[in-house]
Amino acid sequence: MLAGGAYPALLALGMLKPAPAHAFNLEGSGAGKKVIILGGGLAGMTTAYELSKAGYNCTILEARERAGGRCWSIRKNSISNEIGAPIQKAVFDDGLYFNAGPSRIPHHHKLTLHYCKELGVPLEVYNNVNEAAYYFSEGKGPLSNKKIRIREIQNDVRGYMSEMLVKAIDHGQLDSNLTKEDTEKIIEYLRAEGGLDIDKLYKASDRRGYTESPGAGLLSGKVADAYKLQDMLQSGLMDPDFYNVSQYVYELQTTMFQAVGGMDKIAQAMHKKVDSMLKLNTEVTSIQNLAEGVKVVYKDLQGTKEITGDYCVCTLPLPVLSNVNNNFSSDVSRAIDYATYIKTGKIGLQFKRRFWEEDEMIYGGITHTNNELTQIFYPNNNYLGKKGILLGYYNFNDKAKQVGDLSISKREKLALTKGALIHPQYPKEFENSFSVSWHKVKYNEGGWAVYTNETRKTVYEALLKPEKQVYFAGEHLTYLNAWMAGAFESARSTAAAIHARANEQRTAYPATSSKS
Ligand code: ALA
Repeated sequence: MLAGGAYPALLALGMLKPAPAHAFNLEGSGAGKKVIILGGGLAGMTTAYELSKAGYNCTILEARERAGGRCWSIRKNSISNEIGAPIQKAVFDDGLYFNAGPSRIPHHHKLTLHYCKELGVPLEVYNNVNEAAYYFSEGKGPLSNKKIRIREIQNDVRGYMSEMLVKAIDHGQLDSNLTKEDTEKIIEYLRAEGGLDIDKLYKASDRRGYTESPGAGLLSGKVADAYKLQDMLQSGLMDPDFYNVSQYVYELQTTMFQAVGGMDKIAQAMHKKVDSMLKLNTEVTSIQNLAEGVKVVYKDLQGTKEITGDYCVCTLPLPVLSNVNNNFSSDVSRAIDYATYIKTGKIGLQFKRRFWEEDEMIYGGITHTNNELTQIFYPNNNYLGKKGILLGYYNFNDKAKQVGDLSISKREKLALTKGALIHPQYPKEFENSFSVSWHKVKYNEGGWAVYTNETRKTVYEALLKPEKQVYFAGEHLTYLNAWMAGAFESARSTAAAIHARANEQRTAYPATSSKS
């Protein structure tokens, strides 16, 4: 009806409201259609939220006593349930928390930001990059066991690399077709980039900070000598342990955000919208496609029950789904069984004093180490407050397995012993901890989906299509793995696909909606 010039004309005449950014209006009605959604994480809840706006009758089955899945902040009385470990209950002080799952939102994840706005979740800036934090190389080379401010290493490395390149150019060792004029411009650029002196040599500059700060009167400030390039190399400070999560990564570039009061405020706000559709404490045991529709069997606190619907959206993490009875085709079953998820863990350590701020001038950001901790994250809220929670480690793969295999108390001991090498204040200031090893967490059994080029073609593509009346959704069905944006994008694309099928339309959801 509004084809051609009619829509802009009506808009110009003030007869139509402009669509809000990221509006998702499913034209037509889903009234009379029942959709069973498995998993009450962000993907499941968002699918229900969007489909119910179009009139679908949605039921979400969630195994836990809470919604939100991995979008989970640990506060006083939070409970974790890891396979093979006793139940943990957090004893953090009121008002303190850490994000066990997502903790940062890239500024270009427009759909995540859209939902924060639509649901009224306030955001604050997340400081992912802090040159005042440290590199700490344990037991390796001449700089071993020395905490070094990131700004010292980064500026020294930048300086040496620029100096080397300038030398190569000056000595005619660079194989390029650049004109003399362009070469001069590159040398000027390298002098600025590396902070080189008049002779195009790198000598330490105040970019790397001071050993004595400048001040009033005769206090001009003192700058220490640069580290030797060989020492940094031999200590592994130019290895991936240190540079691979730097600010260069697209998703980690400034500006980043977090939800005020804990990232699970997003899940809680979405929960409010879908509360009437959500059944908690409901563990799915079987998913069966019928000739028409789907039957799902589940256990709740009363016993075994079943529910039927026209469609099912399954957002269960694939390692969990792999143990749920089903009548899927062998291609789909195989894809579910072969999916790979990352092993990853975090520990929150409550301290009675924010010594990283008071003693060390570290406000947010990340310290990097080559030991089991991998990273220490400093909180990005309540600066200069009394107490605080540090993320004592955030590790992946083998290190996450090694630490996750420890008992809960041994994980704490490791975080404290290794952390005290960097922050000797730990033993005096520590109060309590809570750790999460996602690959051991019941109903997750993994951090997030990880694909190779090959498994994108096999596992991934097999699950992108619906299996008869069952659709698969979640971050694992996107190229935004490990991000809330993946859950949101997948939810919208699945809702659009179901709606198109129910209304016999073509799928209209743009696959690249989060990009500008
Ligand atoms: N999105 C995850 C993180 O921010 C991987 O660490």
